[in-house]
Amino acid sequence: MISFEKVSYSYDDKILDNISFKIMAGEFVYLTGKSGSGKSTLMKLIAKQLLPDSGEVIIGNGLREKMELFFLEKPTQLISDKTIYENLAYYLEFQGRNLSVIHQLIQEISKEFGIQDILSHFPDDISGGEADRVYLAQGLLKKPKIILLDEPTSNLDPASSQNVLKTLEAYIKKEPTTIVLIAIHDFSLIKKIPHRELYLSDGKIRGTLHEV
Ligand SMILES: Nc1ncnc2c1ncn2[C@@H]1O[C@H](COP(=O)(O)OP(=O)(O)O)[C@@H](O)[C@H]1O
Ligand SMILES: [Mg+2]
Repeated sequence: MISFEKVSYSYDDKILDNISFKIMAGEFVYLTGKSGSGKSTLMKLIAKQLLPDSGEVIIGNGLREKMELFFLEKPTQLISDKTIYENLAYYLEFQGRNLSVIHQLIQEISKEFGIQDILSHFPDDISGGEADRVYLAQGLLKKPKIILLDEPTSNLDPASSQNVLKTLEAYIKKEPTTIVLIAIHDFSLIKKIPHRELYLSDGKIRGTLHEV
């Protein structure tokens, strides 16, 4: 569970103004709002990169390790002298997983994200949209409990964007205690794949994003 209780946050101006909401385990939620409305700031508060000026951000049950939270921000970071396959394998090897298991997990996730043809490429030789999907695949391989994605579809065409959201829906079905929170401002995409929405405007959580 993620719970905001009367949370305020300011840089120079007040960005979040006495905000309260809860997201329960197993929920898939969109965080919407115009550019500059505070979506990234709110995510940084969940990730504890920022601390609230007042109020409390509570992550239910506590996160046992940092690995349990996956926060996709820009720009994506891949290890440049490793191939995409090696980038994906990196954390799994670190966990001491057996090579054939690693191979199978990478094949499965690559197919889901449509990156199976670029596994032998190096990060400099793939597009921004491909890098985003690799980074997402890498994050999911760590089996996080909280998945925060800050505008994960901004580099992707509509078909790949839908595919990414569908893959996350499938992930949460398999791992039903996971929370997925996606900052997004693509209204047509949200309409096609509807989920609960937290709409940020003037420092408050309001109804839903209106078509602009
Ligand atoms: N480190 C910072 N210092 C000062 N102002 C910031 C900083 N980061 C963001 N802001 C400002 O806070 C507001 C909210 O930013 P942000 O959370 O990035 O919004 P969003 O992700 O919805 O576009 C914007 O006006 C932005 O310019
Ligand atoms: Mg942002």
